[in-house]
Amino acid sequence: MNVLLFGATGMVGQGVLRECLLDPDVETVLSVGRSATGQHRERLREIVHADLFDLSAIETELSGFDACFFCLGVSSAGMAEQSYRRVTYDLTMSVARCLAKLNPRMTFIYVSGMGTDSTGRGRTMWARVKGETENALLRLPFKAACMFRPALIVPLDGVKSKTKLYRAFYAVLGPVLPWLYAAAPRYVTTTAQVGRAMLAVAKRGAPAPVLENSDINQVRP
Ligand SMILES: NC(=O)c1ccc[n+]([C@@H]2O[C@H](COP(=O)([O-])OP(=O)(O)OC[C@H]3O[C@@H](n4cnc5c(N)ncnc54)[C@H](OP(=O)(O)O)[C@@H]3O)[C@@H](O)[C@H]2O)c1
Repeated sequence: MNVLLFGATGMVGQGVLRECLLDPDVETVLSVGRSATGQHRERLREIVHADLFDLSAIETELSGFDACFFCLGVSSAGMAEQSYRRVTYDLTMSVARCLAKLNPRMTFIYVSGMGTDSTGRGRTMWARVKGETENALLRLPFKAACMFRPALIVPLDGVKSKTKLYRAFYAVLGPVLPWLYAAAPRYVTTTAQVGRAMLAVAKRGAPAPVLENSDINQVRP
């Protein structure tokens, strides 16, 4: 299986990349992002591309993939709707439309979050924008698309968030997070489980187009 990964430098993406490189079924991972992961691994290739809104210069490199794990995203904390929408909806859709055209056999997996509003009309800004993004992705002509809605994600294996606020949060809660994962599987998952679940969905399909936190935890590798 050939995997395309967006957001590999982020917390979710680092965990997903690790699981991809541990999986013998994954032949290659191509990471595309505005920054490099800094990792040099046999099955990992990277394209650092400043403007992900315009993939025309690298389009020839983006076909022939079985799966795209789209872990790129931002926290809405302190962001105006217009700026949040530009990364969450506009950038995601711009990339996804390009990939759907180039990869009709692709399974596209998007990371949204618990509480995402499928009506796309609710009052919570981030949930509405993520909901609109999910709905638009599900309409694209991929072989399959699956929306992952994790709640709290425990970073394992040295994975670190790029978001300052989250790093502070994990530093304070660190010691109790593994316990929380065991005690509250509806509300907590791990970077490793998210990665393994994505790989399983790409290989065997998803039980539903939208997977809530507990569904993600139930997917077996
Ligand atoms: N962390 C959680 O507990 C959690 C829970 C539920 C859902 N989620 C969702 O999961 C997704 C990833 O979260 P995360 O925690 O991994 O975030 P993160 O650690 O802050 O990483 C964000 C990733 O997105 C990339 N990115 C952000 N804005 C970009 C832009 N304008 N252009 C290009 N790349 C951009 C970053 O690239 P650079 O390295 O270049 O900055 C990085 O790879 C988000 O959509 C988030 O809402 C996270």
